[in-house]
Amino acid sequence: MGEPVDLDLADLHPAVDDPALNSMNFLNEVAQQWPEAVSLAAGRPYEEFFDDDAPPRWLARFRRHLTEDLGQHPEQVRRTLFQYGRTKGIVHHLVARNLAVDEGVHVDLESVVVTAGCQEAMFLVLRALRAGPRDVLLAVAPTYVGLTGAARLLDLPVHPVAGGPAGVDLADLRARARAARAQGLRPRACYVMPDFANPSGAGMTLDDRRRLLDLAAEEELLLIEDNPYGLFPAGDQGRLPTLKALDSGRRVVYLGSFAKTVLPGARVGYVVADQRVAGRDGTVGLLADQLAKIKSMVTVNTSPLAQAIVGGALLEHDCSLVTATVRQRAAYGRNLRHLLAGLSRRFPAPSPVRWNAPAGGFFVVVTVPFPVDDALLRRSAERYGVLWTPMAHFYDDGAPVNSLRLSVSAVTPDQIDVGLDRLAALVADELDRAPLPTG
Ligand SMILES: Cc1ncc(COP(=O)(O)O)c(C=O)c1O
Repeated sequence: MGEPVDLDLADLHPAVDDPALNSMNFLNEVAQQWPEAVSLAAGRPYEEFFDDDAPPRWLARFRRHLTEDLGQHPEQVRRTLFQYGRTKGIVHHLVARNLAVDEGVHVDLESVVVTAGCQEAMFLVLRALRAGPRDVLLAVAPTYVGLTGAARLLDLPVHPVAGGPAGVDLADLRARARAARAQGLRPRACYVMPDFANPSGAGMTLDDRRRLLDLAAEEELLLIEDNPYGLFPAGDQGRLPTLKALDSGRRVVYLGSFAKTVLPGARVGYVVADQRVAGRDGTVGLLADQLAKIKSMVTVNTSPLAQAIVGGALLEHDCSLVTATVRQRAAYGRNLRHLLAGLSRRFPAPSPVRWNAPAGGFFVVVTVPFPVDDALLRRSAERYGVLWTPMAHFYDDGAPVNSLRLSVSAVTPDQIDVGLDRLAALVADELDRAPLPTG
């Protein structure tokens, strides 16, 4: 006799048993089981950047802003910070200023919705776009698992679009959009990460960004641009304009996160949704207003205290996160260069091991001549003491993939060296177990 049960998994929403929703738990569980292992898996910010004194200082800075810049009386300040508040947020004006200062993007304040992390922004947008069973989402594969998971929860099928070294294969995107339509489906949007994507590390050229916007207009697609890593170029090549900065036709819904630039624990992100929505009565509003309605039924409003902390951090740097993240950019860039040099040293050409060389961000994809699955990750953690992420987690079809993602964000250069030595030992043993065919 088994344990008595109250509910059957089969009677819950099917997404709860989907690999996309199990992915983060599995990876966390492996990390917890082998805490001594060097983690080239975690895409978290480096914890030396967390400063105990900063959040209270930022909170005080934001209070001062409410009083001195916005003219709020003490009881209004108290209400702003402690009471239920505006659904679209209380730091929307600072978000807009940040986008103007750092990205040259000028947005209507009403088009900004401040969310509980970028993850909520993603969920709200997908919820709004999924109107019926014919709707599908296109997404560049490999895809951030949080996007796939959110789509699953919303019964929104995700059709993969080839990414490739250029970030998105435009011919494939057009073909996928048309193939979906030919099947009677309605592709609502394509999810893209033009800057140092998670997990591929790929970035799009300026020409490709322009072509993508043209294609989106021709195919009548929205683009959902997710940009958590754009402030972390590894070299001095500068940054390219975001799609939103190039978007003159309101094709781009822009997702932002303060997790990597301010504090992940604040859980503050945002969406810019300036698309015009025609109402039944002939009125025209903003997509952001519809997202706010959905938000009011999901998280009510984003914690004002968390927003105040992020708002204070923005104010401290005149709303420039480029200025605020000088140290982070230097450290992540140094780590990325260190990892790439370390891979070259450990797998000199000719080698069956290959990897890409992203121009920034947190991630590098290593391709090996054997399947990389969860069992191999467990073995890597247990016997070799190094963690990484199987790339299969970022593809939707569950097919085995011969590659793994390395992250440089949560480690020191010394830890990268130790992790790469351990990874090299694992690869050597795997190659011994299943030697490459000769000839
Ligand atoms: C591509 C991408 N989008 C969104 C998120 C989630 O951001 P947030 O922590 O702001 O919810 C992450 C987090 O790792 C990410 O990699």
